[in-house]
Amino acid sequence: MKVVLSGIRPTGNLHLGNYYGAMINFLKMQEENKCYFFIADWHSLTTHPDPNKLHANVRTILSEYLACGLDPEKAILYVQSDVPEIAELYLLLNMHAYLGELEKTVSFKEKARQNPDNVNAGLLTYPVLMATDILIHHADYVPVGKDQEQHLEITRNYANRFNYKYGVDYFKLPTAYNFGKELIKIPGLDGSGKMGKSEGNCIYLIDEPKVIEKKIKKALTDNGPEGVNTPKPDYIENLFTILKVVSTPEVVAYYDNLWNAGETKWYGSLKKQLAEDIIKVTNPIRERINDIQNDDAYLHKITREGAEKARESASKTLKEVREIMGFKSF
Ligand code: TYM
Repeated sequence: MKVVLSGIRPTGNLHLGNYYGAMINFLKMQEENKCYFFIADWHSLTTHPDPNKLHANVRTILSEYLACGLDPEKAILYVQSDVPEIAELYLLLNMHAYLGELEKTVSFKEKARQNPDNVNAGLLTYPVLMATDILIHHADYVPVGKDQEQHLEITRNYANRFNYKYGVDYFKLPTAYNFGKELIKIPGLDGSGKMGKSEGNCIYLIDEPKVIEKKIKKALTDNGPEGVNTPKPDYIENLFTILKVVSTPEVVAYYDNLWNAGETKWYGSLKKQLAEDIIKVTNPIRERINDIQNDDAYLHKITREGAEKARESASKTLKEVREIMGFKSF
């Protein structure tokens, strides 16, 4: 049985990028694999979230995870900070993480550029904490979007380095995973880069149908193709990228053909179809989110049980790592 592990920072509501990048198909996955799904609340500390909001943010992601179909009877769902073994393994792995390589990480450089006044040590060693999350459960597969690819590469480096340094074949090398397909990046609706909370260009799973229609209507377009078989500009390609994940291949081919034929005046129809197909995905999820969010007893029960199971696996790894590194008790 393979081990699958997926994490999300509690920094807002889940959006289509999270869903298609990291979560799609986990309903099926949890039947066939040992799955760990967790909320990376320590990771969210790099941006100093308001202490009055931290717990609510965790609750939001927890409810949304569950509403997407994650079954705590089949998968292990936990909150990172409920598993203190992660902090100790993070400390141990930090001794094998070098400043030069951490400084070169794309996500570090990007965050440091965006927030020059808050380049903290946690931000620098973010990939070490992420590697710890993955290695502590010996994950084989890590469902992530394209933006996390480098973090998986770094995780494999640390696993390799540890094995080499101590002459063991202990840590497995995990693979970034998107269910047999290439890792994806769901774009934003503003014609630029990826869909992301801080970019403010998201369709959230909790969005009401009317909100989704409005957001799609506002997405950037133009007057149509300037000829037959011309390349699509990024902002049009972006709409097709989203269409590909929510609609059928026939629908995608239909609009692709219109573009390639150089036809104009069909963006209205494309947007209507796109909104409709997104709503088909999000509607049942949104309805479940609201129910789960208010069920304190249920959330308490599953996070207790999840933490217990995650700690069982984590403490076994930590004990073995301590032994490999030479710790002995008196
Ligand atoms: P986070 O919280 O930014 O995003 C959670 C997951 O959603 C994916 N994602 C996307 N995929 C495709 N297109 C998008 N526009 C898009 N936006 C987000 C991310 O790739 C991610 O898989 N560092 C992680 C959290 C984490 C983690 C881990 C993940 C901590 N430890 C261990 C996996 C394993 C993060 O910040 O994800």
